Amino acid sequence: MESIGIKRITITNLRSMVKEMTKERTFVFIKPDGVKRGLVGEILSRFERKGFKIKALKMKWLTIEEAEQLYSIHRGKPFFKNLVKFVTSGPIVAFILEGNSAIEVVRTMIGATDARKAQPGTIRGDYGLDIEANIIHASDSRESFEREYKVIFNENEIISDY
Ligand code: CMP
Repeated sequence: MESIGIKRITITNLRSMVKEMTKERTFVFIKPDGVKRGLVGEILSRFERKGFKIKALKMKWLTIEEAEQLYSIHRGKPFFKNLVKFVTSGPIVAFILEGNSAIEVVRTMIGATDARKAQPGTIRGDYGLDIEANIIHASDSRESFEREYKVIFNENEIISDY
């Protein structure tokens, strides 16, 4: 009996260790077009229903400096200036999501950058028709996440386990 008890505890511990190891965070923001069109609730709801936990949430109007920092990897590209102008044209809603393989799963859920080509069922595929006004942004790697969320959130704004 005792050995079964020990086995159970070990498996439970292993499960929670694996869960802990596969937990990942990603940074997302709904762009001014998504906010203006009233898509915030719909978009947050998709992520919540999928099983992600919202760890931080903020509505704000980006400054030009913040937008340039967020998109620093695109500096010098032909679309950079217009992109900065667009994401500072109205408020955004930014959040941090946590869950299994969050970066990859969220990127799949938002769909291709060019909303005209995004698959139906994805956020851009269902609500967009443009490559610039494409509703939503999500980090494409752990490195991007580490750089991007710090532009918007302080560490003390991220909620610990709940
Ligand atoms: P996002 O996923 O936020 O990352 C960079 C953004 O640049 C992209 O979505 C688009 O909104 C914007 N963008 C505008 N033109 C282009 C382009 N030609 N190629 C890629 N991204 C573009």
